[in-house]
Amino acid sequence: MKYKKVAEIRNIFLNYFKEKGHTVVPSSSLLPAGDPTLLFTTAGMVQFKPYFTGAVELPYTKATSAQKCLRTTDLENVGKTERHCTFFEMLGNFSFGDYFKEEAIEYSLDCSVNYLGFPKEKIWITVFENDDEAERIWISKGIPPERITRLGKKDNFWGPAGDSGACGPCSELYLDRGPEKGFPECGTKKECKPGCDCDRFLEFWNIVFNQFNQDTEGNLHPLKQTGIDTGSGLERVALLLQEVDSVYDTDELRGIISEVEKVSGKKYAEETKVPFRVITDHIRSVLFSVGDGIFPDRTGRGYVIRRLIRRAVLFARKLELREPFLHKLVAPVVSIYKERYPELENHAASVERTLLAEEELFLKTLEIGLEKIEALVAKTVASGSKTFSGKDSFLLYGTYGFPAEMTEEIVAEHGLSFDKEGFSEELEKDRQSSRETWKANRSALFTGTKVDKTEFLGYSRLEAEAPITFAFFENKSVDSLREGQSGVLTFRATPFYPEGGGQQGDTGFVKKGSSLFKVLDTQKENDVILHYGIVLNGSFTVGESAVLEVEKERREKLKSHHSGTHLLNGALRKILGTHVMQKGSVVSPDYLRFDFSHPSPMTGEEIRRIESWVNESIALSIPVETKVLPIEEAKKTGAVAAFDEKYGDSVRVLQMGDRSLEFCGGTHVGNTRDIGYFYIKKESSPGAGNRRVEAVAGPAVIETFQNRFAELTESVQNLNLKIKEDLGPESASLTIQTHVPGPEEIRSLFRAKGSDAVRELRELSEKLFFEIEETQSKFLKEKKNRESKDFENNPTVIQSVLANAESAGTTKVLKAIFDSKDAKALKGLSDSLKVREKDMVAVLASRNEEDASIIVTCSQNLAGKVVHCGDLVKFACELLEGKGGGKPDMAQGGGKNVSRLEEAVQVAVDRAKAALNGSKV
Ligand code: ALA
Repeated sequence: MKYKKVAEIRNIFLNYFKEKGHTVVPSSSLLPAGDPTLLFTTAGMVQFKPYFTGAVELPYTKATSAQKCLRTTDLENVGKTERHCTFFEMLGNFSFGDYFKEEAIEYSLDCSVNYLGFPKEKIWITVFENDDEAERIWISKGIPPERITRLGKKDNFWGPAGDSGACGPCSELYLDRGPEKGFPECGTKKECKPGCDCDRFLEFWNIVFNQFNQDTEGNLHPLKQTGIDTGSGLERVALLLQEVDSVYDTDELRGIISEVEKVSGKKYAEETKVPFRVITDHIRSVLFSVGDGIFPDRTGRGYVIRRLIRRAVLFARKLELREPFLHKLVAPVVSIYKERYPELENHAASVERTLLAEEELFLKTLEIGLEKIEALVAKTVASGSKTFSGKDSFLLYGTYGFPAEMTEEIVAEHGLSFDKEGFSEELEKDRQSSRETWKANRSALFTGTKVDKTEFLGYSRLEAEAPITFAFFENKSVDSLREGQSGVLTFRATPFYPEGGGQQGDTGFVKKGSSLFKVLDTQKENDVILHYGIVLNGSFTVGESAVLEVEKERREKLKSHHSGTHLLNGALRKILGTHVMQKGSVVSPDYLRFDFSHPSPMTGEEIRRIESWVNESIALSIPVETKVLPIEEAKKTGAVAAFDEKYGDSVRVLQMGDRSLEFCGGTHVGNTRDIGYFYIKKESSPGAGNRRVEAVAGPAVIETFQNRFAELTESVQNLNLKIKEDLGPESASLTIQTHVPGPEEIRSLFRAKGSDAVRELRELSEKLFFEIEETQSKFLKEKKNRESKDFENNPTVIQSVLANAESAGTTKVLKAIFDSKDAKALKGLSDSLKVREKDMVAVLASRNEEDASIIVTCSQNLAGKVVHCGDLVKFACELLEGKGGGKPDMAQGGGKNVSRLEEAVQVAVDRAKAALNGSKV
């Protein structure tokens, strides 16, 4: 085989399929649009999911791509094996109702043999257990039957990605790397062929014959159009063509490994290969994820990224890397990939910042966390238990930032199992607990003690050194707070902002030599600032000096939301009127909530104007200025005061040009432009006479739109699918074709347009929302229409009514009762009956749970002369406790007493018969 570089392999593949008429589609984001059940993009087909199910109009019927993918199911194996990666690139060719098995097989063989250079005689094939057709095609292409293996559902049935979507049997291509790669017993004591666990046969191309759409309950429905989805792992193909044993020894990953060598000063060798591989894999994953807007966080996708970063930092210790280093790898790794993924360069700086902050945060507690885990493991082993307790793993999680899965991996090395349930229980308990207790107890702390005011330094700095003035343990004043104790520390001065004016308290760390106190919340009691937290290491004694460090990233988010709140208040007073008074406010890192007096709900137009006014103020880059003034003087400035705040002799007045002037002790951005963007998520009422606005500011806005559009994408896809399924392909004109922007597009829009993007995206999301509602109701109407058409012309229905006819002389009296049909459907049916019977009276009724309706019609020759339908209906409806009436040849009515419907129908029938038999009605 001829050596080929990764980039070359990729080009050969894409060009091959381009030549065969496929559209080359760029890789989509790692954040799957509109698929909340899928954490990440895990295969090339993910971005095409709606094309397979036929939910949207097809822009092309054949496509090819090289897709960035993230799979974290085997995370703990990464680094320890030759081939596990979390991040990889998948080459693929796709057909949506275009070609099927024959061509897909032909292409894969032709491309592998004649373009990539795999020797045909070494290619082995697997097919699904009952797929005779696939086997026949392979044989016709020159693969002998002895090199074709049939495997079951576990190996040869693929999909769906996420909880529903296209799936089907598959067929895979393997390369035989020779018996020397097998286990010693392979081929002798043990049969060896694809499917064997050894390394002899390596799969490099999977062809999925998409035939089914799996619903969320796991049922398979045949797809309207069959499709082809293939996947060929680029790293895997490179390993084979470069004839190396590990994906980490292919050219590009070796490139990253040498960057890790530079950063660590260590050599990649047998004894160091595990940490090298972990770092190499994880840096790719986090670089591409953060670049796609998935930031490390406490939950969901962000939590997986946090785990990857922390795992890399943990393994780096084996290379004696104890300082932040991942961020240093960003630039060199970007330069390897920028040609294929040009967007990486734009995001590099933000990825570096994110990684540095995340590494710093974790490194602060890692060292002592590791000591702690060792002690806890020893304690567990000594106790004779084989299970690491949920309590202990929660301690590591809550206090030292160890992701539960990381603890699981570490304790497994000591032969201990992990108590998942116990961990979840602890997590839940914690959610309910601490903050409230702290607040309830704090006034008791200083009873009978003379305390000095804490000087607050946090407007201008996030770090400071100050002596400890008090320590409290279990609500009692103590001389020092020792390792493992949760309590309160106070200082002469502090940069930590205590909860107040709606803004949540800061979090961070206090250090003294190797002693470390983690601040989980900051509160205020009179003029003293209380730091609530836990001593992670060493001890803290009153009188000693310590260094206080606020968690910066969180504070930045709080600042954006607090300044955003002021502009919102300004906008409300400007647009709704100066009667608007603040009634309550929450400023958190993730959102803001503002309650104010206003008599009526805001209109959509008012919301838009208010939001635009705030975004305009951001775009104006107004400096934020503060002054501390004696209260009387401050009042004269006309600054807005919050109605329920108590103010001292002097107050701080915060001004944003002519846009906002308020009394405020909170922390703010230096210039309105630093807020970035502002978006109102919701307007509601918290109670009598007041309104509530929930909004987001800063990067949270981008994320909010990404999530909103993901939801909309899902609704559009589901609705389109339903329309097609229920109304058939000719209903395509009813489906929604409006383009819904994906996560990457949304980010680019913000980059290009700044806060203007908010208006555009709000409009688009509202438009889409209405379009969905409108289409939904059109769809339901059309469906009903069809159903009633189907009903009125349905020969079985007509036959059964005719079969039950009663007679009066030559006239047929027809009667029938149906469930849940509207008057229109009954009328349609009576018309169909009239066409068939020239001399008839029909009494047709329908019922549902709430009411019943009746229609009476008769042929023209009888109308008004022999029977009067209006009268017949009237009598019937009396029994139903309702009303009815109409013309001699057609009348209708109904009532609520559904239980007497049969009687009512019979009354009309009997009266018609009597009339027909001679006694005038
Ligand atoms: N979607 C298929 C896979 O991921 C091709 O293997």
